[in-house]
Amino acid sequence: MQTKLEQIRKEAQNALEKLDKLDELSSFRIEYLGKKGKLTRILRGMGSLSPEERPKIGQLANEIRAHLEAEIEKKTRLLEEEALNQRLRDEAIDVTIPGKAYHRGNLHPLSIVLNEIKDIFLGMGFQIAEGPEVELDYYNFEALNIPRNHPARDTQDTFYITENIVLRTHTSPTQIRVMEKEKPPIKIIVPGRVYRSDEVDATHSPIFHQVEGLVIDKNITMGDLKGTLDVFAKELFGPRTRTQFRPHHFPFTEPSAEMDASCAACDGAGCRVCSYTGWIEILGAGMVHPKVLMYGGIDPEKYSGFAFGMGLDRIVNLKYGIDDIRLLFENDIRFLDQF
Ligand code: DAH
Repeated sequence: MQTKLEQIRKEAQNALEKLDKLDELSSFRIEYLGKKGKLTRILRGMGSLSPEERPKIGQLANEIRAHLEAEIEKKTRLLEEEALNQRLRDEAIDVTIPGKAYHRGNLHPLSIVLNEIKDIFLGMGFQIAEGPEVELDYYNFEALNIPRNHPARDTQDTFYITENIVLRTHTSPTQIRVMEKEKPPIKIIVPGRVYRSDEVDATHSPIFHQVEGLVIDKNITMGDLKGTLDVFAKELFGPRTRTQFRPHHFPFTEPSAEMDASCAACDGAGCRVCSYTGWIEILGAGMVHPKVLMYGGIDPEKYSGFAFGMGLDRIVNLKYGIDDIRLLFENDIRFLDQF
């Protein structure tokens, strides 16, 4: 029995030396020292020993057990230390490596100029409203006093989804939607995307952007329209900017006008940018047609208002000297990086 015990001690010692993983240690302990382990099994045979031998063998077995426990403990500490060192090596960070230069994004020129326009109108007490891009024919045309036979309704201009649903061709339908919901005083701008079935070229895109404006209150006059839009032009293009209003026609305003701003490139002297006229057309505007007020549920006897609409893409191109609207939609990073 003694030889068997010595054998087990040796065997265990060898096995333990070969171990190199922490989780193998617990199976090692079970294999040798567990309830059904090798050492315990031998001790079961103690019954057949003579009474003199028993304590000796018992003592030896305890010694071996204590020895193995100590060895396991030692090995555990060793392996833990190694594992820690390995982790420290694996997770080492070289703080001297230079940082990666990340590409920093910037705002799209349309967003930059729209933000400016919003700021200008917010400063004059306007609020910002939005409306759907997929719009009912009713809001896009009917309620804006655009009759059935008006050329703006031609299928070549309008993307029809069904007979009664279109992709809005301008931001004006939101005028009606806001009038339906709010009571005067109303003072809003409506920036948004609009759609027209145009061939793509340097000045046309089937998707472009407008900023609509609507002011309704008691005693609003053409003077308010001119004053507001003149301030707007000076804020956007610079304090030297002058404006002029030319008579025009829109179905939803009466009277209607187009506003020109003096060319910022030549200060009105005439240059290539303004086709040597000194002026640049900026927006359409007018006093809201009484019929349009009525469509919006507002009494034209009590209230009046003015409205305006401008093409954002054209204004962006003017401000930055961009000569092709397609650049705004292609999103070539080499173009966008310049803003
Ligand atoms: N909706 C017009 C267009 O798309 C622009 C416009 C003109 C809007 C005059 C207005 C306005 O609100 O009063 O061409």
